[in-house]
Amino acid sequence: MSVRESPDLPTRTEVRFGTPEDAGAYAALMRLAFGDVQPYELRYRWQYWSDPQHSKLLVFEADDNVAGMLGVEMRPLTNGLVSGVIRDIVVTPQHRRRGVLRRLCGEANRLVVKRGGALLASFVNAAAASALARVAGWQILTPIPVLRRDVRAELPRTRVSEGLLAREVVAFDRNRQNRVWRFDQHPVHEYFTASFRTGIAVMKLFGDPPSGDIVDVNAVPLELEVLEGTYRAAVERLRTMGAHEAVTWGILPASERDLLSRLGWQSGDASRSFAVSVLRPEAKSLADASGWRLQPADIEHF
Ligand SMILES: CC(C)(COP(=O)(O)OP(=O)(O)OC[C@H]1O[C@@H](n2cnc3c(N)ncnc32)[C@H](O)[C@@H]1OP(=O)(O)O)[C@@H](O)C(=O)NCCC(=O)NCCS
Repeated sequence: MSVRESPDLPTRTEVRFGTPEDAGAYAALMRLAFGDVQPYELRYRWQYWSDPQHSKLLVFEADDNVAGMLGVEMRPLTNGLVSGVIRDIVVTPQHRRRGVLRRLCGEANRLVVKRGGALLASFVNAAAASALARVAGWQILTPIPVLRRDVRAELPRTRVSEGLLAREVVAFDRNRQNRVWRFDQHPVHEYFTASFRTGIAVMKLFGDPPSGDIVDVNAVPLELEVLEGTYRAAVERLRTMGAHEAVTWGILPASERDLLSRLGWQSGDASRSFAVSVLRPEAKSLADASGWRLQPADIEHF
């Protein structure tokens, strides 16, 4: 990435890769944009340096000061393609609306193409959705709804997945190594994985009174009857752990959304949207939200 003059910025600018020494600058930008809600330095080391092949931070400098950044995480998909996932998007207030995000996205494109990626994906708030929608190649596919359920309310007595048909969808491939990094080695959250007869669910508790986030539900094979058993067991487990509410969100196939609604989950507000940029023709069909199955563990940024 070379140093060059940008017509939009009155300063000398450069996009470079982050280094371990950028932990402080990263934390300062994150605090500025999202508040003091996390030990960001720890998160930086985990996300970008526990396996440097996995994620790269792109840093935008204007006159040697950090003016913006975004992270690119490489993730394999279940259809054999690889996606770059854009995260940690922040531009300092004084540099906004001057093309910094656009430049960073251009560099992210180049990086992901070089590493064999077929598309870019991101889970963005309203401001980033408005901006990305104006950046070449990007499409905002769908809002990401949040689903909530009172865990103390009784579950239906009989099976409800009858008559619902599973369809083939694409997801991020969470192999064992990724699970260890994502859940066991997370620097901030404590996750617990519950294995049931029907599959596994990964959960975390937060707040007071506690809510339970169901961040990942998996079953092999991914059949609705099996998913039903796993969601039921996860709700029961959260109840025994003292949670009042079960929360999950994501881009689920229509049949799985129906299943959750039959099990008593209700849709709440969507604060994020799913955005993609297709980089190779093989990934063209992925610019359609109905072909995806994404869960909180795929989406959550912190
Ligand atoms: C969202 C954000 C990253 C945009 O960065 P930026 O450098 O200002 O974006 P750019 O200047 O490259 O803008 C690209 C295009 O989006 C438009 N745009 C930028 N911010 C916008 C906004 N908030 N609403 C509508 N359009 C916006 C720009 O006008 C430009 O379009 P144009 O050239 O056709 O006029 C920046 O506002 C920010 O850091 N916000 C706070 C942190 C945050 O919310 N991050 C997203 C987390 S998911």
